[in-house]
Amino acid sequence: MGADAIEGLLDESRTFPPPPEFQANALVTGAEIYDDANADFEGFWAREAAQLDWSREWDTILDWQPPHAKWFVGGQLNVAHNCLDRHVEAGHGEQVAYHWEGEPGDTRTITYQQLLDDVQRTANALKELGVGKGDRVAIYLPMIPELPTIMLACARIGAIHSVVFAGFSSAALRDRINDSSCKLLVTADGSWRRGNVFPLKDNADEALAETDSIEHVLVVRRTENDVAMTEGRDVWWHELVPGQSTECPPEPMDAEDLLYLLYTSGTTGKPKGIMHTTGGYLTQVAFTHRYVFDLEPDTDVYWCAADIGWVTGHSYIVYGPLANRATSVMYEGTPNHPAEDRFWEIVEKYGVTQLYTAPTAIRSFMKWGDEHPARHDLSSLRLLGTVGEPINPEAWMWYREQIGGGRCPIVDTWWQTETGAIMIAPLPGATTTKPGSATFPLPGISATIYDDRGNEVGVPGGGYLVLDRPWPSMLRGIWGDEQRFADTYWSRFGGGIYFAGDGAKRDTDGYFWLLGRVDDVMNVSGHRISTTEVESALVSHPSVAEAAVVGRADAQTGQAIAAFVTPRGNVEGDEALAKELREHVAKMISPIAKPASLLFTADLPKTRSGKIMRRLLKDIAEDKELGDTTTLADAGVVDTIKGRYLDQP
Ligand code: WTA
Repeated sequence: MGADAIEGLLDESRTFPPPPEFQANALVTGAEIYDDANADFEGFWAREAAQLDWSREWDTILDWQPPHAKWFVGGQLNVAHNCLDRHVEAGHGEQVAYHWEGEPGDTRTITYQQLLDDVQRTANALKELGVGKGDRVAIYLPMIPELPTIMLACARIGAIHSVVFAGFSSAALRDRINDSSCKLLVTADGSWRRGNVFPLKDNADEALAETDSIEHVLVVRRTENDVAMTEGRDVWWHELVPGQSTECPPEPMDAEDLLYLLYTSGTTGKPKGIMHTTGGYLTQVAFTHRYVFDLEPDTDVYWCAADIGWVTGHSYIVYGPLANRATSVMYEGTPNHPAEDRFWEIVEKYGVTQLYTAPTAIRSFMKWGDEHPARHDLSSLRLLGTVGEPINPEAWMWYREQIGGGRCPIVDTWWQTETGAIMIAPLPGATTTKPGSATFPLPGISATIYDDRGNEVGVPGGGYLVLDRPWPSMLRGIWGDEQRFADTYWSRFGGGIYFAGDGAKRDTDGYFWLLGRVDDVMNVSGHRISTTEVESALVSHPSVAEAAVVGRADAQTGQAIAAFVTPRGNVEGDEALAKELREHVAKMISPIAKPASLLFTADLPKTRSGKIMRRLLKDIAEDKELGDTTTLADAGVVDTIKGRYLDQP
């Protein structure tokens, strides 16, 4: 976000107290819960943990030896039991867990009883394939019901799932499988992409050519395209799972046993396998899902429109909602297929009460026009949420008026793959909101702002967002890389202070305003992509000598990727090569990582010691006054690039 936008944000003076009609039935309407949690945050989280079913009670709430936290030490529970059996045993087996809507318009309604049966069958199938406690299972599936089913089946037997977003390339899948030596891969024949079939299984096969840990591939039939099945390795889901027994007792897991790995981009080329455990994670996703969305399990129809391939889907499509016995909508496709009112059609059809989506989607809806939501009855909605990037006040206001009819509170939720659950957000019945601010840390959470030297910045003031107290769903590490875990999050300020990598400000009322990443991580349409990752992909192409990548502000996608590429000696940087390079990045990482602009340049701006000055490239890409150029080895380079950049069509 540019400096102007930041200043604009801080001028925001509109305030919206909780609507009285909403407040009348809200779970929380006052500030006592914050005071309670502050008086004794460990006791607070222990009370929340006690809402779950534990097969063995914990001995110690928190063992904190920075940067290592253990929550609910000695306690045992099973996540699948808490998400399913518990509700069925309490007589809610007939309640709908998911109203699933396929991209082509096919639907499935899945009750808690059905999901429990499916999960037990699938868990037995996993055992038959030789998967047991502690084994890693890679999951590369579209948004179909088998996705939450297999995740819960893993949780039931204590296997660790590693979901890879189905939009990722085979190279990305291969690297993730190899990093944690997954034993099983679960995928589908294909996935629907705006009416076309994307050959997921072919992609998976490409990845498998360069992995040696996978013993079996479990394949769901979804799009019915032809696929090659490797004898002895590949098994169809519909041939293995339905015949299994619906009896599979949940494995008692230690609170600190791993539940899953989820890879996310960092500042180097290699994605990090973020580790999440069992007891603390489930406690905090359940708490935040219930209170931030004001969930009323008997009457609400909740819809988180993210993809389960990202952390938002893990915590707020699967684990949080199921732990809270929510009835959810799950949607397979894109917002504009077959038409630009698909979301509003779904809201109307199912009577959605809470909608949780990303600012980038909201900005697309704005662009497509008010007539699309206006055609539908959206009066069932009572709360709206956003996540993934800072939301600009105009988009916030549009969401409030055009989607929420001016009556729905908006919860802007700040968190990360690493935090596991929402950290900064309003409580909708209690917090007065301001468009563009995520407001305050939730009860039980402590966040503050530091300057460069690690001094706390007062109110008002800005700097680096830090979390200065452990929280139950915090990451426990990076798979196989303890040093990177310590370096990335805990060494910046030391002393058990978590460095989030985001800039933030507090206004005179103490409201938090998130300002975007302060490191080399870009945020494109709410997706985290590292500049180094894209640079590595570019230089892996034989025609490229060197590449620098920056995220520039973009009104639609938040940030857009701008690449500056120096071709090899005798190679001409022409349009055909630019196109080829963009495809190459899509193949190496994912189509979401394709540069929006790509400029060939004979030189890149470097310091005398040879470091590329991306900061200056960013100034060029954002058409801003160039920052300090005194450390450049050759000051002429930036002027040349700047002239050529501005000349681009
Ligand atoms: C950004 C997504 C501003 C932030 C849950 C963070 C946000 C990164 C917000 C994490 C928000 C997420 N306001 N920025 N409400 N939510 N971010 O790991 O830069 O995919 O560090 O987790 O997204 O992205 P991740």
